[in-house]
Amino acid sequence: MLPATEVEEELELDTLPGVGPATKAKLKDAGIETILDLATSGPMDIAEAVDIDVSKAVELNNKARKKLVELNRLEPDFINAADLLAKRKAIDRISTGSKNLDELLGGGIETWAMTEFFGEFGSGKSQICHTLCVMAQQPREEGGLDASSVYVDTEGTFRPERIQEIAEARGMDAEKALSRITVARAYNSAHQELIVKDLGHIIEPNKVKLVILDSAVAHYRAEFLGRGTLAERQQRLNRFMHQLLRTAEIYNIAVVVTNQVQAAPDSFFGDPTRPVGGHVVAHTSTYRLYLRKAAKNRIARMVDSPYHPERDTVFILNDRGVDDPSEEPTRKK
Ligand code: GTP
Ligand code: MG
Repeated sequence: MLPATEVEEELELDTLPGVGPATKAKLKDAGIETILDLATSGPMDIAEAVDIDVSKAVELNNKARKKLVELNRLEPDFINAADLLAKRKAIDRISTGSKNLDELLGGGIETWAMTEFFGEFGSGKSQICHTLCVMAQQPREEGGLDASSVYVDTEGTFRPERIQEIAEARGMDAEKALSRITVARAYNSAHQELIVKDLGHIIEPNKVKLVILDSAVAHYRAEFLGRGTLAERQQRLNRFMHQLLRTAEIYNIAVVVTNQVQAAPDSFFGDPTRPVGGHVVAHTSTYRLYLRKAAKNRIARMVDSPYHPERDTVFILNDRGVDDPSEEPTRKK
């Protein structure tokens, strides 16, 4: 991976009206180095960094967004529907490796959006993440974007050996595949937040089109135990998820988050699962897929989507990572 490059001149913080050397220095100290960083940061984070009122921080954040609109890097707040349709043509897709799963998603996971995979342990969430990192590198004809990925690993379950295996099974150069994935091991929720704040510095210079958070919620769940801390947990998680969504929109990248849920045997009707810390994640995600095990197969269902069918689709896990049941498990290209 390449190191982060110098800040582009048009993205320098002090090109914004009202940002002088002192404010710029404080923002930089907090890791907010460019106008892109400022636009993706929440007002609370900006207020803390510069030690100003939240209302002033909102102003600063708005100025950054306005500048990005001028630079044609962000769509304006009010936009003609026809222009919006044209803009949405810039949305790209990354194949999951399974035709069935891609079909359920309308062609793969989308950039400019956040996709959540939730399900119980072993349902295939991390396997999907590994496969996506490989698929993102494929040329467009093969369902990829010829792009690099960032894998934020909060549970220590990222396995380079698995990347190697999936790449080889798909006829790719395993060394090259590994070199195009940046892994960040997040040790606690604060660390995870810091990593996401710093994402811009990796995304821009490295042609990153996919950012994975596996899992988005595990640290919050572990650190905030008990009823008393629930509100604080939801607030922190909310802030975090919104920062991720802004990152997806500003850089036009695909963000994928995983969320472990436990099957709740006492609820026969309605949602059979209890999303852990889940409603915040659910409300921020653009698309949500519920995964479950069925013998050797895995079943996925798109939930809460107004324009995707409410139906189950089957995929499997093999040496190619995520695959379709009809394919031979050892098929090589
Ligand atoms: P948690 O993180 O515990 O919530 O689970 P998860 O949903 O992330 O599960 P994960 O994606 O790790 O799936 C684990 C399952 O993937 C295992 O039970 C295996 O069935 C399958 N699996 C993992 N590695 C391989 C592999 O190398 N080959 C094959 N065929 N299957 C694998
Ligand atoms: Mg996992």
